[in-house]
Amino acid sequence: MYSFIIAIVLLLLVHSIWKRSRNPYGLPQVMFNWPMAIQFIMWKYSDRNRLQTEISRYRSKLGDLFVYPLFGTPMVVLSGDEALQWATKQENDDYLKRYFIVNIEQLLGSRNFDVHNKSYWKKNREQLSPILMKSTALNNFLPIMSNTIQNHFSKITQLDANTLAPIVFDIAWLFIVGNRGIQYKDTVAELYRGIKRGMFGFPLNLPGSYLRKGLESRVEIGRITREIMESDPTSKSDTTCCISSLNSSYVTEIEQKVMGLLFASHETTYSSISGMLWSLINNTNVLEKLQKEIRESQIQPTTIGDFQHFPYLNNVIHETLRIYGIDSIIRETKTDLSYKNHFFPKGTCLILNVGYDHMQVKDADVFDPDREDKYKWDPFGMGPRNCLGKVFAQTEMKMIMYHLLKNFDVKPEKDANAKIFDFLQIKLQNARLKLSNSTEAS
Ligand code: HEM
Repeated sequence: MYSFIIAIVLLLLVHSIWKRSRNPYGLPQVMFNWPMAIQFIMWKYSDRNRLQTEISRYRSKLGDLFVYPLFGTPMVVLSGDEALQWATKQENDDYLKRYFIVNIEQLLGSRNFDVHNKSYWKKNREQLSPILMKSTALNNFLPIMSNTIQNHFSKITQLDANTLAPIVFDIAWLFIVGNRGIQYKDTVAELYRGIKRGMFGFPLNLPGSYLRKGLESRVEIGRITREIMESDPTSKSDTTCCISSLNSSYVTEIEQKVMGLLFASHETTYSSISGMLWSLINNTNVLEKLQKEIRESQIQPTTIGDFQHFPYLNNVIHETLRIYGIDSIIRETKTDLSYKNHFFPKGTCLILNVGYDHMQVKDADVFDPDREDKYKWDPFGMGPRNCLGKVFAQTEMKMIMYHLLKNFDVKPEKDANAKIFDFLQIKLQNARLKLSNSTEAS
């Protein structure tokens, strides 16, 4: 019996190695396509460079177009202006769809947020743009954002990815559902953690599996969203609350937008802030200069516009996003396509390496907010599906830094040691910062 099982396992292994070592597109290929589980373990347990650095390294060896294995799938990496413009055109013409590993797709319930059909995602963007891209809703929300941050900071003495995540989560949740949702925030944060576990668990919906628990959590978040929506029928006038401003009569559509927004806004923002903090404590000259700007300013920011009086803070955020923003977005071809002499059959996965230019500057690994290099800066993606929350995200990063540096002296804990986990984003796993009340703070 045992030898039969071992034979089956070996057969599957050989089959997967054979499958993964094929080169289906006739393009230069990164050496070996590790099975997803091995790649995941390698990324999780090694203190590695970012995916971006790795892709850039291969790109300089292999050119604008090559095959890189990700999630166990051979993916074609495209970088450079010409290739990315081609991809933008294909997306505009509705020949590409966003690619997610199967769990994420299921857990987001993404019929509305991430659908593969242009008319859906266009409608989604039209509904969200007035809330996310115009400053009115965000300016109205800033006092809540500011209170949330101060409230958290009054309770913690150290800052790391674990203490940062709930701050960013609360901000996202309160923005999406408004103050009426405040009593649900811890419950929803816990449910969302269940969803995240489901994203990286085994992709089978079995009783007791992470995926099943994640799907149940999603249903529960949907129920809570409905409860909040129904709790106050007059809330249409509440502009600080994203869902009540949504022009949609379909409850399921709104539930899915809530899921989508939680997903889009949470991990991205807190991993960028983690990166920023880690860079700051490793570059004390930058930290001191930033602290000086914030502490000496007479302006207490209450609108997005107020942040223009903090030029160095803006540079620090810009440089942070050069290094820690999202550098690759993934698409799948919806139909057979050709680019130059290359043929991509329907179902080909493309990595659009939007952040390649971020690494083509002088001393690319150095965190230098004063750099004068000219380069294409696209940490929020490119093309018709770029980030709708880019103003929100940058304002949130600025507000957190403002309150942090205004009120605290920041030092690394003795054993602080950043571990960069680069599966989806960067997370500093062991970068604890010690906070002590600033001697200069007013
Ligand atoms: C530093 C933080 C953030 C980064 C680096 C970031 C980056 C990105 C990127 C690269 C995309 C495009 C993904 C793709 O093309 O596949 C995207 C999409 C999106 N982001 Fe962000 N994001 C951030 C924060 C936020 C926040 C705070 C929100 C909302 C409050 C948000 C809302 C969205 C939405 C709604 C989309 C989807 C747009 C669409 O499907 O058409 N993002 N983001």
